[in-house]
Amino acid sequence: MQLIGPFKQLIPMSGLSIKGAISDDDLLVFEDAGLLIDGAHIKAIGKFDELKVTYDHAEIHVLKGDHTCLPGFIDSHTHICFGGSRATDYALRNSGKTYLEIAKAGGGIWDTVTQTRKASQEQLVKKTTKLANRHMKNGVTTLEVKSGYGLSVSEELKMLRAIQEANRGTSTDLISTCLAAHMLPKDYQGDATEYLMEIADTLFPILQQEELTHRIDAFIEDSAFSEEEIRPYFQRATDMGFDITVHADQFSTGGSAVAVACGAISADHLEASTPTEIALLAQSDVIATALPGASLGLGCSFTPARKILDAGGALAIASDHNPGSAPMGDLLTQAAILGAFEKLSNAEVLAGITFRAAAALNLTDRGQLKEGALADFILFHTSDYKEILYNQGNFKPCVVFKKGVKVFDKHQ
Ligand code: NIG
Ligand code: FE
Repeated sequence: MQLIGPFKQLIPMSGLSIKGAISDDDLLVFEDAGLLIDGAHIKAIGKFDELKVTYDHAEIHVLKGDHTCLPGFIDSHTHICFGGSRATDYALRNSGKTYLEIAKAGGGIWDTVTQTRKASQEQLVKKTTKLANRHMKNGVTTLEVKSGYGLSVSEELKMLRAIQEANRGTSTDLISTCLAAHMLPKDYQGDATEYLMEIADTLFPILQQEELTHRIDAFIEDSAFSEEEIRPYFQRATDMGFDITVHADQFSTGGSAVAVACGAISADHLEASTPTEIALLAQSDVIATALPGASLGLGCSFTPARKILDAGGALAIASDHNPGSAPMGDLLTQAAILGAFEKLSNAEVLAGITFRAAAALNLTDRGQLKEGALADFILFHTSDYKEILYNQGNFKPCVVFKKGVKVFDKHQ
């Protein structure tokens, strides 16, 4: 057993509701705290001095200076497995072309599909591992990664096998998702329904045999798939036991209604959601996920996070890190900026990247510091947790622990 501390503040993110608004007054703040770890899990949290006496046989790590301890961040939506770059798209967008115009002209997602297909599985493993490690050093200890730039049975398998292999090469947990329904591949000889049925018939069983993923995602949008096309696809996935997540309401509405009807775990994007969709989501168990990195990358409005919370919805915040719409890939910065624009409390922003993000991945063993949870935690050099979001991302963790092991230390 290891005892770590003392922390000036430890914010466990426990005892808070999964849904609705949270005030900073509701946030538990333990002072002069210690964390007792047994292997990969948390054994106890309490006053450091008291834990030292009770567990006098534990290996004790005394910290010098002021530290604040938080659960490791969880980024529940990324596309960090890809080939090439879309810097040219970004320049075109900032010169006046829209994301959808570029997509129609053959750029956009299809451009990354072409470049990802050219990359070998090994090249994808290398790139994904490198980006995952960057997230880990920024405090992200669980990171979702989607396929969706292969768009054929064999190319989607290449991506998901690369993500599985990258997971072995990084200390952050990679949670994979199949996004074969990202767009209808331009070289497919058939219509959307035929493509989706081929994926469900051929790819889904392999995903289960090889344990490549238990999550299915689809992009519901005019430029991708319609609600009618996706409903039977999700039904097949649900019947086979997959969890569902949706790229919903990014430019037009419709996706969130499908998410609710299909019992999806999360509906992500929601920049275009109106009061109707917000009410629908808030009344459901679907986690609404804001992706401020996509708003910043595309220069468009943010997800109505404040309204979602005030309506009683559950709000997670993820980076959407991808080469097209969200190239920055800095969860903490983006979450802090969303908080400033949407008037979210510290508690709401931190909930969005910890236990509410865990719920968006259907994970119950992380996102909070409590007995029995994974010992995934991060330290900031401060005596006041409010400094973290105040610095809008320009203040990173100095130490990262994953499953009870120190995996990053800024000073080493
Ligand atoms: O979440 N909206 C669709 N998919 C991604 C973008 C992918 C890309 O542009 O390469 C997203 O923003
Ligand atoms: Fe996305």
